[in-house]
Amino acid sequence: MPSYDHPETYKAYAFLEKGGDLKPITFKWRDPEPGEIVVKVIACGVCAGDESGKLGVFPGTTYPIVPGHEIVGDVVAIPNTEKKWKLGQRVGAGWHGGHCHECKRCSVGDFVTCENGVINGVTRHGGYAEYITLRREAVAAIPDGMDPAEAAPLMCAGVTTFNSLRNMSCKPPQLVAVQGIGGLGHIALQVSKAMGYRTVALSSSPSKAELSMQLGAEFYLDGSKVDQGAELQKLGGAALIICTAPNSDIMTGLRLVEGLAVNGEILILAAVPGGTNLPLISLLHKRASVRGWPAGSAADSEDCCKFAKANGVRVMVNKFSLEQAHDALESLSSARFRAVIMP
Ligand SMILES: NC(=O)c1ccc[n+]([C@@H]2O[C@H](COP(=O)([O-])OP(=O)(O)OC[C@H]3O[C@@H](n4cnc5c(N)ncnc54)[C@H](OP(=O)(O)O)[C@@H]3O)[C@@H](O)[C@H]2O)c1
Ligand SMILES: [Zn+2]
Ligand SMILES: [Zn+2]
Repeated sequence: MPSYDHPETYKAYAFLEKGGDLKPITFKWRDPEPGEIVVKVIACGVCAGDESGKLGVFPGTTYPIVPGHEIVGDVVAIPNTEKKWKLGQRVGAGWHGGHCHECKRCSVGDFVTCENGVINGVTRHGGYAEYITLRREAVAAIPDGMDPAEAAPLMCAGVTTFNSLRNMSCKPPQLVAVQGIGGLGHIALQVSKAMGYRTVALSSSPSKAELSMQLGAEFYLDGSKVDQGAELQKLGGAALIICTAPNSDIMTGLRLVEGLAVNGEILILAAVPGGTNLPLISLLHKRASVRGWPAGSAADSEDCCKFAKANGVRVMVNKFSLEQAHDALESLSSARFRAVIMP
């Protein structure tokens, strides 16, 4: 089996039981099976979705589970059967951790909705670790010259915003509003601007105004001061409102549908438990629609990296060591904007 020198054991941080805190754990080295590769983790972003492993919200989580699905590192071991990935190659992996190639969704090439898909950091070990074993079909090549700390968040926050936006009905230079300027939102502003949309930031306070304009927003609507729905209408109505704030009250309070143009779309990216009270009659009259979007495949992540590199999309990161994994996870709601663990 081709491999670089590796230790007999390696460190990681894991949820040892459902609902438990993140704790250090040591794993024995395991050679990759056919269909797998082993990567030395250089950077792993911290995403709100990491809580899913802790809370066991998806079927298939067993404990201990190492979280982390914004992974960038170098290939250090491959099985003899591996034809594509090479030792030393810089690669990444995201939420989509692998698919079966057999089910109906795989037969049409829609691997992210595979009926037997696995999730890095949720149903298989993730990147809060010195090493990670990845399914080969869920690996993305990282372009040369990208900072690994900035490339890691592109594996989830980046691909989710880029891949959803490129698949919506709107066309540049229509108005796109990004609601919630956090990990996803600060990338969405840049991607939307780079795709040629007139871009609006919808935030819940005045504190991100200047930064949002620097990231590509033409307008900043502070929900603590103005009626964002009415203000969007004054701008002609949004063809798309991208919702990233994980709070259903905020979505309802924003009167999002009022802010939409005719045929407009609301794109739900935030993972919000429960429902939201959208005004159905307004939806009907506007021929408006509500869409959801789950991240993307490895090929989508490669596209996202190329797009970010070509258009100067930058991720704002706060770096933590592996030993600070707990602090990194705790910093989720206060980070500006992505905590990244550098093992
Ligand atoms: N669809 C997918 O595939 C996918 C992928 C990744 C993440 N997600 C989900 O997307 C959501 C956002 O993730 P993120 O990493 O961008 O989170 P984040 O960095 O915490 O940003 C969320 C932003 O929402 C706004 N916000 C307003 N009210 C809030 C509240 N009560 N709690 C938290 N935030 C509030 C804040 O922006 P302002 O200050 O501007 O109001 C905050 O910065 C999460 O639910 C995550 O699970 C979904
Ligand atoms: Zn994520
Ligand atoms: Zn499948």
